[in-house]
Amino acid sequence: MASFALYIFLMLISLFVPSSEASGSIGINYGRVANDLPSPSKVVELLKTEGLNRVKLYDTDANVVTAFANTSIKVIVAMPNELLSSSAANQSFTDAWVKANISGYHPATEIEAIAVGNEVFANNYTNYLVPAMKNVHASLTKFNLHKDIKISSPIALSALETSYPVSSGSFKPELVEPVIKPMLEFLRRTGSYLMINAYPFFAYSANSDKISLDYALFKENPGVVDSGNGFRYTNLLDAQIDAVYAAMSALKYDDVNVTVTETGWPSKGDSNEIGAGEDNAASYNGNLVKRVLTGRGTPLRPNDSLNVFLFALFNENQKPGPTSERNYGLFYPSEQKVYDIPLTLTEANVNSSGVGKREVPVNGNNGSTTSFSGESWCVASGDVGKEKLQGALDYACGEGGADCTPIQNGATCYNPNTLEAHASYAFNSYYQKNSRASGSCDFGGAAYVVTQPPKYGKCEFPTGY
Ligand SMILES: *[C@@H]1O[C@H](CO)[C@@H](O)[C@H](O)[C@H]1NC(C)=O
Ligand SMILES: *[C@@H]1O[C@H](CO)[C@@H](O)[C@H](O)[C@H]1NC(C)=O
Ligand SMILES: *[C@@H]1O[C@H](CO)[C@@H](O)[C@H](O)[C@H]1NC(C)=O
Ligand SMILES: *[C@@H]1O[C@H](CO)[C@@H](O)[C@H](O)[C@H]1NC(C)=O
Ligand SMILES: *[C@@H]1O[C@H](CO)[C@@H](O)[C@H](O)[C@H]1NC(C)=O
Ligand SMILES: *[C@@H]1O[C@H](CO)[C@@H](O)[C@H](O)[C@H]1NC(C)=O
Ligand SMILES: *[C@@H]1O[C@H](CO)[C@@H](O)[C@H](O)[C@H]1NC(C)=O
Ligand SMILES: *[C@@H]1O[C@H](CO)[C@@H](O)[C@H](O)[C@H]1NC(C)=O
Repeated sequence: MASFALYIFLMLISLFVPSSEASGSIGINYGRVANDLPSPSKVVELLKTEGLNRVKLYDTDANVVTAFANTSIKVIVAMPNELLSSSAANQSFTDAWVKANISGYHPATEIEAIAVGNEVFANNYTNYLVPAMKNVHASLTKFNLHKDIKISSPIALSALETSYPVSSGSFKPELVEPVIKPMLEFLRRTGSYLMINAYPFFAYSANSDKISLDYALFKENPGVVDSGNGFRYTNLLDAQIDAVYAAMSALKYDDVNVTVTETGWPSKGDSNEIGAGEDNAASYNGNLVKRVLTGRGTPLRPNDSLNVFLFALFNENQKPGPTSERNYGLFYPSEQKVYDIPLTLTEANVNSSGVGKREVPVNGNNGSTTSFSGESWCVASGDVGKEKLQGALDYACGEGGADCTPIQNGATCYNPNTLEAHASYAFNSYYQKNSRASGSCDFGGAAYVVTQPPKYGKCEFPTGY
């Protein structure tokens, strides 16, 4: 009886807890290159308050790692670059490191992964990387931790030779044989994933004449059509991630996943750091959180939800380099917010339009010459769930006054007989009848604007009534 009640209870719970597969996760980088930060235990409280349950560190500092013990926060720790040569050369060294710095804390502190080095290609530790990863894996196996803890290494996007167009993404040829292939092979064999640090800010700042700011900030924009794969990218981060997937695919590693271990936007910069500033940083990070928590994967990997670690928790006053380097934080050391954005799903950020939308393949148009013509259509989002879509369809065909005769049984747009196709037809009719007014293609987030005629069987979607 009791177990039956428990079963019912769990069934009910599962109805209300959103599936973790459906959407991605947000974590944060806790960098500490500063002399004015709050204590680790205060930081743990801050993360809990913000609803963050994943954190990435840059070392294995005892006070910090211990502070996360017995919390529900998962931790990625790091082996600093300086230890890679010893780690690669000496298994006893790696065993001692894992014993002291990993097995001493886990599982009280839930360590989910070890980042072996950081951006090592940019830092010339390349030759040590894969041997060090293998030794760390052998050490984890000795402590029977290899099933709990993944091993990877964050790479900078500068590892790519080409990233535009996305579909032509490729790794630098001089890295491929020495390190990329052996690393991907290691990741595949151990069921791990590739860590990438991706900064649309750098791309925008260096090419602000060519890249639209709205595209970089996940705002409403016409998007960029990839001439090779036909997808319309509506934001630069998706394009950067897919360039990495394309580069992996070219080497036949289609089965290895990617996690974005760093991305962010500075709230301050020097005068030559175009785009740095509080409003843009708030837009980037706020829209990114919505996109990750409400959207699917990228166009090339729609079913692999995005896992992203924001950079960074605090402004770090001892970082060298341009002003931006010390101003990536979401918080001041006082724990005051630099700008106010939610880091979890709220009603306010679920409803807003322009982010978290699925990119649509543009059939038969490789985009090389066609520009945004001004024509537009409204289609249903497949991501919002049947109930919401049905509700919006009922509204459009009822009170909304859309022309829904073509989607009735036997009429020209009945096939394909799917909720998404019918809803798209009705939403578009409503949108066109309202002269494509702003807000007339929203339906509580169940619809979005496209700039190519939608394709559903033989059905023609009218534009410009
Ligand atoms: C975590 O909880 C365990 C079990 O309650 C306890 O033995 C341990 O001391 C705690 N660790 C820390 C660092 O608080
Ligand atoms: C290997 O590492 C162990 C443990 O840190 C150390 O005692 C030993 O001297 C190292 N061996 C070499 C050849 O560096
Ligand atoms: C633990 O890691 C720190 C750096 O992260 C390192 O200085 C220390 O030597 C490590 N301990 C061992 C026993 O290797
Ligand atoms: C990179 O490291 C290698 C040895 O590992 C060294 O020969 C080379 O000079 C280094 N290059 C740079 C740019 O530091
Ligand atoms: C995503 O999942 C759906 C449903 O399981 C499947 O039909 C589709 O082929 C998958 N797409 C890709 C690109 O794997
Ligand atoms: C990649 O991610 C997807 C879901 O996001 C998951 O189902 C799959 O198991 C992952 N693959 C590996 C090799 O971990
Ligand atoms: C794209 O279209 C242009 C003009 O139609 C054509 O010349 C070009 O070869 C196409 N490129 C690709 C990659 O299909
Ligand atoms: C979000 O959308 C729903 C309808 O889909 C609406 O009832 C609700 O008021 C909206 N919330 C906000 C904050 O706009």
